[in-house]
Amino acid sequence: MAAKFTPRVFSGIQPSGGLTLGNYLGAIKRWVAMQGPDFETIYCVVDLHAITVRQDPDKLRRSTHEVAAALIASGIDPEASVLFNQSQVSAHAELGWIFNCIARIGWMNRMTQFKDKAGKNAEKVSLGLYAYPALMAADILAYHATHVPVGEDQKQHVELTRDIAQKFNHDYGVDFFPITEPVIEGPATRVMNLRDGTRKMSKSGESDMERINMLDDADTIARKFKKARTDPDPLPGELEGLKDRPEARNLVDIYAGLSDRSPEAVIAEYAGAGWGRFKPALAELAVEKLVPISDEMRRMMAEPDALDALLARGAGKAEAISRPILEQVHDIVGFVRSRG
Ligand code: AMP
Ligand code: TRP
Repeated sequence: MAAKFTPRVFSGIQPSGGLTLGNYLGAIKRWVAMQGPDFETIYCVVDLHAITVRQDPDKLRRSTHEVAAALIASGIDPEASVLFNQSQVSAHAELGWIFNCIARIGWMNRMTQFKDKAGKNAEKVSLGLYAYPALMAADILAYHATHVPVGEDQKQHVELTRDIAQKFNHDYGVDFFPITEPVIEGPATRVMNLRDGTRKMSKSGESDMERINMLDDADTIARKFKKARTDPDPLPGELEGLKDRPEARNLVDIYAGLSDRSPEAVIAEYAGAGWGRFKPALAELAVEKLVPISDEMRRMMAEPDALDALLARGAGKAEAISRPILEQVHDIVGFVRSRG
């Protein structure tokens, strides 16, 4: 990649319901790890994305506060990173429109998340849900972000972002947008449902028992792991032995993600252990890591004005980075910009 782009991280989470252990291990924990001298880090609560499906306005506000609180409680430092909600910075929607005119219908038709979410109902979902990946490209490229840490399910959307950047650069004969790298790393890039190891853990699954919420209390976390679906066999001595055991593999990956170890190291420690030993150890580890975060989240959510002030400050910083980039886009595209 051309050296002209500052190493810059951008990522987002939707305020569309309670956050899960999947969000924590697949995204938040890794966002925290990327803060530091190597990158400028920009993290966004993507409320424009959330309304691609119907959201109750009060719940949307509360979820926005919940996500902001979760990020800070997990270690995002609002001084070291830029932290804001998407709708307060209009560059996202504006560049999103321009990208709607760059992305091709054929590209959008290949998006597997749209196909999953729309299902048989494709005629009834919003136009926004279809255009959603072009808005995500705008989020990333409005900051010339070079790296995007996400869970495995977002890989295709980051690839689409690269295609949009490439087509824009090519069509206008410029070298303006960076070709962004997805960063999908660690043992828990795809945390699975606790009742069905072939499905992703998500905010919106039908049963609460299939996911761990970041706001679950210690008893609930322990109960959910105890009831998590497994198979009758003990843990094997090597990772290879988990090949056709998705539920078992998922619990090992969660343990690895929470303890910052490799799945191999976890298997080595628990080789031959039955679920009666492994599940309580996993529950204890999850409680140890998550409960201090949820305690802090609840404390912050009780002071929404303070969170609003933080988001306002973050939005100001985000605006300062994205506005000049958007002005250059207007010049490249040929929009008259006579207001300065
Ligand atoms: P979302 O909740 O769809 O806004 O997702 C926000 C971030 O969390 C994205 O980077 C997702 O890839 C990540 N994420 C969501 N669910 C999971 C999961 N089950 N496993 C790993 N990462 C996830
Ligand atoms: N689409 C992402 C998700 O559902 C959220 C998102 C929106 C995002 N804009 C982004 C992630 C930009 C990374 C970068 O998980």
